[in-house]
Amino acid sequence: MPANLPTPICRKLEKAARTAAKASYSPYSKFRVGAAVLTGSGRIYSGTNVENASYGLCNCAERTAIFTAIAAGERTVKAVAVYTPTKLATSPCGACRQVINEFGPTALVISVCNSASRSETTLDRLLPAAFGPKDLKRRKKS
Ligand code: THU
Repeated sequence: MPANLPTPICRKLEKAARTAAKASYSPYSKFRVGAAVLTGSGRIYSGTNVENASYGLCNCAERTAIFTAIAAGERTVKAVAVYTPTKLATSPCGACRQVINEFGPTALVISVCNSASRSETTLDRLLPAAFGPKDLKRRKKS
């Protein structure tokens, strides 16, 4: 998977993440997060955080976007953009990093926020030595 994408595609992904945050269901944290994923087919899927009165069941924006893409039949993630309503760009949480790894172990991860602060990195830098599908492959007998 390419770590570098054309700038217009990155901008489109970032815009989709910002737009997705508007639908956030976050009455407890009041932290409206949006995410968008670019998949192997070239399509963009977005999602937002969905909270629950049973706090542990809150779902992050990144995972909502990825699960939506997978439910639509996609199987690979090339890039993820996340928007947080902050002054500094923030990175996906650990659980979301693990879920991104499943479908895009070298995906580009872009973070944008309410200022010019931004970050662009890759999933393997955010989650080095990740446990993933490759670790469950049947091993040859030695
Ligand atoms: N949240 C996300 O949606 N993505 C992140 O990367 C970090 C946190 C959500 C979860 C919860 O609804 C709220 O932000 C506060 O943690």
